[in-house]
Amino acid sequence: MATHNLNRSSFGDSKNAGNLIPLEEAHSLLNEWVPNERLRLHMKQVAANMKAWAMEKENADEQTALKWELAGLLHDADWEKYPDDHCRIIIEELERRNTDPDVIRCIASHGPNYFGVEPVSKMDKMIYAIDELSGFVHAAALIRPTRYDGLEPKSVLKRLKTPSFAAQVSREDINDAISRIDISLEELIYFIIDHQKDVD
Ligand SMILES: [Fe+2]
Repeated sequence: MATHNLNRSSFGDSKNAGNLIPLEEAHSLLNEWVPNERLRLHMKQVAANMKAWAMEKENADEQTALKWELAGLLHDADWEKYPDDHCRIIIEELERRNTDPDVIRCIASHGPNYFGVEPVSKMDKMIYAIDELSGFVHAAALIRPTRYDGLEPKSVLKRLKTPSFAAQVSREDINDAISRIDISLEELIYFIIDHQKDVD
């Protein structure tokens, strides 16, 4: 991924706190902006993991879980159509739609080494950790005849140690993201397998 430093440190407007675009609207944005089915699936998988994490690990209420889900669902929405402006376009679109600043900041911090925005909240840190790892787990499932069925975290870990497998996935980013949260790599892989296996 090329570096697209956003050169910004504040996102959205605090007066829009609590303003969340409805899930159906987020899905239509996704369908309109992202023709690539594989990429749409990636975003739905990240969304499912984010929502599940909020509910199961952070005791989030419905509104908070929706924030996590929306950030996951839209984090790469501009990737396919605006590769040279990835992240900036979706952030500005959500600002135009007066979206809750937490969601916008979370999206902006999904790749600190590319966008120059450090993850601060738990939601920021989790999207960073889940994003790359979710794509990697999916790649590891796709090469198996039974896909997710019987996929063990240990075999995903083994593939992470094989640099030629899904070589575009940055192991450095994954390790950096894990070092910022209170869960082991193996546990997060287990969580991701469990929560994205049925997403379609
Ligand atoms: Fe992503």
